Formats: sequence, C-alpha cells, structure tokens
Amino acid sequence: MKWDRLFEASSRYSMLIDHYIMDFMSITPDRLSGASLHLIKAGGKRLRPLITLLTARMLGGLEAEARAVPLAASIETAHTFSLIHDDIMDRDEVRRGVPTTHVVYGDDWAILAGDTLHAAAFKMIADSREWGMSPEQAYRAFKVLSEAAIQISRGQAYDMLFEETWDVDVADYLNMVRLKTGALIEAAARIGAVAAGAGSEIEKMVGEVGMNAGIAFQIRDDILGVIGDPKVTGKPVYNDLRRGKKTLLVIYAVKKAGRREVVDLIGPKASEDDLKRAASIIVDSGALDYAESKARFYVGRARDILSRVPAVDAESKELLNLLLDYIVEREK
Ligand code: IPE
Ligand code: IPE
Ligand code: MG
Ligand code: MG
Repeated sequence: MKWDRLFEASSRYSMLIDHYIMDFMSITPDRLSGASLHLIKAGGKRLRPLITLLTARMLGGLEAEARAVPLAASIETAHTFSLIHDDIMDRDEVRRGVPTTHVVYGDDWAILAGDTLHAAAFKMIADSREWGMSPEQAYRAFKVLSEAAIQISRGQAYDMLFEETWDVDVADYLNMVRLKTGALIEAAARIGAVAAGAGSEIEKMVGEVGMNAGIAFQIRDDILGVIGDPKVTGKPVYNDLRRGKKTLLVIYAVKKAGRREVVDLIGPKASEDDLKRAASIIVDSGALDYAESKARFYVGRARDILSRVPAVDAESKELLNLLLDYIVEREK
C-alpha cells in the first residue's frame, strides 16, 4: 500500500518513543501514572515524533536521529497533554477509540495528568543532555517547545472564543489553526533540526514545512469531523458542530448558504437531527471540496519549502514527502 513505508518507519519510531514515555511516566501514585498514560496506551498516530526523528535524520543522519529521541518523546508528551485538556474543554468523551481521560479518571485527575505531562515534556528536554545534546542545543529546544506551548494556549483560547460568535472569517480561522495545531507541528520539525545541529536558516525552513503541514492537518481534521468514520478516526462524528466550532467547513457553508440556514442547527442546543441537517447543508455547499483544496494548497507549500532543504539522508526526506501526502489523504 501507498503508506507502507511510512507506517513501517512510524511503528519503528513509536516503539522507541512509547518506551521512553512509559518509563518516564511510571511514577507514583499509580492513579497519576494511569491517568497520564491512558491516552498513550490507547494508540494514536505518533505523527509529531515521526516528524522530529525524520527531520533530525534528514539533516544530521543517524547520530542526530538517536540524539532526538527524548525530544521526539517530549513533543508527543506535550501533544498528549494538549489532548487531555482539549477533551475537557471540548467535552469530548471518546478519543483513540476509548473513553477520554476525564471520563475514565474524572476532571480532577485529568487536569493533573495534563499538568504532569506538560512538565514532563520540558524535563525530557533537560534530560536530552544525557543523549548527547549540547547545552546550546538543549536551550534552543527549550525555547522552541516553550514558545509552541504558549501558542497552543492562545490557539485554544481563540477556538473557544469562536464558539461564542459567528463573526469569524477564513483569516481568523487560519490564525487560530496556526496557533492551536500548526505551532506544535512546526516545533516538532524545528526541534529535529536543533538535534541535527542545523543552522537557524534551516531550522526556520523546516519549521515552515511543519507549520504549513500543520494547517493542512487541522483542515483534514475538520473534514473528518463531518465525514469521518468513528470506527476509523476513533472520535465521534459531528462533535465540532455540537460545540459550535467555527471550522473551515462551517465558515464556508455559512458564507454560501447564509447564517440563518445554519445558526440554529449547530451548537449545544442542536438535536441529533439538527446536526445531520447541518452536515448535509455543509456538504451541499461545496465546503468539502473547498477545504480539501485549501489543505492541498498548504501541503503544496510545505512540499516546495521541503524541496529546498539540503538533506544528508535522502530516504528520510522521501518519507517526509510521503507524510505530507498522508496528511491530506488520511482517514484517521
Ligand atoms: C489530534 O491530533 C488533534 C489535532 C491537532 C487535530 P492527531 O490527529 O495527531 O491525534 P492522534 O495523536 O493521532 O490521536
Ligand atoms: C486540536 O484540537 C488542537 C489541540 C488539541 C491543541 P481539536 O479540538 O480541533 O482536535 P480534536 O478533533 O479534538 O482531536
Ligand atoms: Mg477537541
Ligand atoms: Mg479543541
């Protein structure tokens, strides 16, 4: 299959990363490690650590890849933290095909598990010194992750503010998505460059690859929120509509069909029938094609920038290109 090579690399890397995270988070009391590792054990695509490790190898070969292991684990740990808290904010009850952390452990434990993972992500960067990262590299990695963490919070803030208003256009959406999703994928790539000892120009370029890929990634997430198969995505369909999220599809459908057509059909007061009706208005508006072409535009941009990045390892660059295809074609 088209993705075989990508999945093969991903599962090899996932074993390393999962082992690192599980080991790191085996802390007492048991309920805290249980809540912190609940989503990790449930699965997930592990795309962000894949980006870190492939970027490190592309720019610095196998030694750089080995040095990047705690950094890749750090990015996935920060991602897991953001998902646990995101599910509390979005009141989502299923992710990765299992009940979310707050559903299993309660809000109090889920908040604490998120806090712990957030802190652990930074400790992993400190510990990367033991994996051959210089003080200067570790400092740069800290800076990259801490900036991304603040951007995620800002993005999540806009995401929630937009639930309360219809005055959201495509530019507002893109700004929100760059922050909530793009920033961490950008950081995943940048931190790989840091591990490879790349200069700041190259670090910036791979960061742009990550940012553009991240925007496309979130647009695909929005699409799957309307047409995704929950058995495949591991997440219920229509949840964005239920929360009144201003996804790219909703923004487009409102522009085409008019606010009045859509406004009463989405949000917390909408019935299941309303949501279905909203979904069919969205589909009829042409929003899926529109969103797909936008996602392809951003992946195209990522691909252009990546083509100009000098690689010492051609295979990892090819895999990154394949990953860009996967981002817009994925069903989960
Ligand atoms: C989900 O990310 C959150 C978004 C930014 C859309 P993923 O789709 O990467 O989630 P997992 O890690 O594979 O579960
Ligand atoms: C993705 O949020 C961004 C973060 C988790 C920070 P979403 O709310 O759009 O993603 P899903 O659909 O719950 O995975
Ligand atoms: Mg969510
Ligand atoms: Mg959310």
